Amino acid sequence: MKAYFPTAGKPAKGEDLPPVAYLQWYIPRLREQRKHNLSFSGLQFPWELGTVEDVWKDHRKQGFDERELVSEMYGVHTDNVHLTMGATQAIGVAISAASRGGKVAVEMPSYAPVSQTARILGLETLEVRRQPTSDVWTIDRENWKKVLIDVDLLMISPQLNPVGCSYTMDDRRWLVETCKEMDVRIISDEVYSASDRNWQPFYKEGDHCISISSLTKVHGLGVIRYGWILADSKIIQDVNKAFHHMEGMMSSPTIRIVEKIKERLSEPIDLIEDYRKANLPVLQEALERLGIEWTPPAHGVFGAFRIPGVDTLEMIDTIGKEYDLLAVPGCMFDSELNEWLRVGWSIEPKMFEEAVQVLEKVIREAINIT
Ligand SMILES: Cc1ncc(COP(=O)(O)O)c(C=O)c1O
Repeated sequence: MKAYFPTAGKPAKGEDLPPVAYLQWYIPRLREQRKHNLSFSGLQFPWELGTVEDVWKDHRKQGFDERELVSEMYGVHTDNVHLTMGATQAIGVAISAASRGGKVAVEMPSYAPVSQTARILGLETLEVRRQPTSDVWTIDRENWKKVLIDVDLLMISPQLNPVGCSYTMDDRRWLVETCKEMDVRIISDEVYSASDRNWQPFYKEGDHCISISSLTKVHGLGVIRYGWILADSKIIQDVNKAFHHMEGMMSSPTIRIVEKIKERLSEPIDLIEDYRKANLPVLQEALERLGIEWTPPAHGVFGAFRIPGVDTLEMIDTIGKEYDLLAVPGCMFDSELNEWLRVGWSIEPKMFEEAVQVLEKVIREAINIT
């Protein structure tokens, strides 16, 4: 059977390039526009932007610094900010700038670009794995230490895809301190974290920590490709060199659109809170009726749970398709997650309720077959 999860290993070029198998599976199914869509990992925010004047004209001019928006968002100096065309590009640019040529530890489960991009850039990667518990997934410190000793860079996504929980405070502190002692730089992909109003980016933990984010997930603006990197100013200078090679300049339409909506960036976060209040109890009750244990993550718009004995990829591709339902199988994110299903609650409550009724039927049928 085809494997969809991301892989670690030697540098890879040409036909050995690892696919983002999740996107190969997901994009055709998204295009089917299934009626009940619980697959979104980002907020579906009803942006209506109207007209943006001179949208295509060069945005660069005297006295305008495009980094200011992000520097104000985090209260950091503009010298610690670099913009990118989305978080995916930020991953490659940040690795190019922060690597010192050694091996790279990559956290699993993961969204494949976070864990695989280092291989494409000519670096060998080694896996570290966050472990399932019935609540927040945790770091197995002894195992992580054995890997960290061998690397000079670590790739993480604190708010873990597919389960949606972040590190415990204790694990976070341990990770930051251990990496500092071992001279390992951390690149932290935080695209989901702004839904936590008290989120502190890893960048603020020390010069060895770099944060990446974008307006894709929490703000529902993936189509405009606006992302950023926060890092020590010396690393940002190297980020700038990599960016000039890999992108050149930011897109003017992107900058102009974001400038137009910059006063409205808290609206999506309010909507996420409303959706959590309305939608989470509906999902929790359905899972309880099915006898599935689940603790929702403290923030954000998706979570994942295990359906014992059910291959969720097969379930979505057969019974799910029949009932016009889409949700994301856990096997897209790691090898041991075949029985896990990721469900998003970032849609309007009426639609969500209908979709959860269908999900309950699909799961019940799958459990009965197995
Ligand atoms: C952890 C993570 N980072 C980045 C992205 C993509 O972000 P962007 O659209 O800003 O490139 C995703 C998309 O699913 C993701 O899960």
